[in-house]
Amino acid sequence: MGWLVTTLLSVLAVAYAARYLTLDPAVFFSRQRAVYLRHELPLAVHISGAVVAMATGPWQFSGRLRRRRPRLHRRLGVAYLLGCLVAGIGALLLAPIAYGGPVAGLGFAALAVAWLVTGAIGLRMILRRRVADHRRWMLRSFALTFAAVMLRLMLGVAGALHLDFRASYQAVAWLSWLPNLILAWWFTRPRGRAHGSAHDRAHDR
Ligand code: HEM
Repeated sequence: MGWLVTTLLSVLAVAYAARYLTLDPAVFFSRQRAVYLRHELPLAVHISGAVVAMATGPWQFSGRLRRRRPRLHRRLGVAYLLGCLVAGIGALLLAPIAYGGPVAGLGFAALAVAWLVTGAIGLRMILRRRVADHRRWMLRSFALTFAAVMLRLMLGVAGALHLDFRASYQAVAWLSWLPNLILAWWFTRPRGRAHGSAHDRAHDR
């Protein structure tokens, strides 16, 4: 159920973001339209990678797909990590010009760094055949990818509550990912060799 909701929300985020690939300013975030027109290249780089990461990520957590189509899992994994790399570089270029100034920009930059680091460690773990650690780090990575969904949901709630948009945006630049990361960390924390974590047990079936 959780996986289904996550996947559906990810598909919606991909559909939202993919409209940017037309480079039609009419679809741009209106408050940033003029800024994006001056920075179309980093924007296009960011969105291209982000769409690939968000579209491939959820399938990697399907145990059935991993068991039945391991080669597909590896290919989607390569696409996911390349997507994160490209989008993460694009995000670092966009962060200084983000709406909401340095407070939001720093939040996005920290998210981008955490995203690049978790993906790189996840890759390193599987190259060393440390499967449980690979799962742990990839779950952390995807929890950060999912910030794109949380950000838009939170902005929707802030809008419904008539909160100040700029202040909400600054807060959401942090709140869209820090709780996700803390939850993912808690859920995948190693709990000693004898017992293994709930996450390990859930996936080792
Ligand atoms: C998880 C790491 C990510 C970081 C650090 C990040 C960072 C950023 C930054 C700094 C901007 C410019 C914001 C502004 O102008 O105020 C941006 C815009 C955008 N990003 Fe990301 N992003 C990430 C992931 C994603 C993902 C996974 C998607 C969707 C598939 C996505 C879709 C977009 C879109 C559509 C915009 C344009 C602004 C909008 O319409 O909301 N991003 N991102």
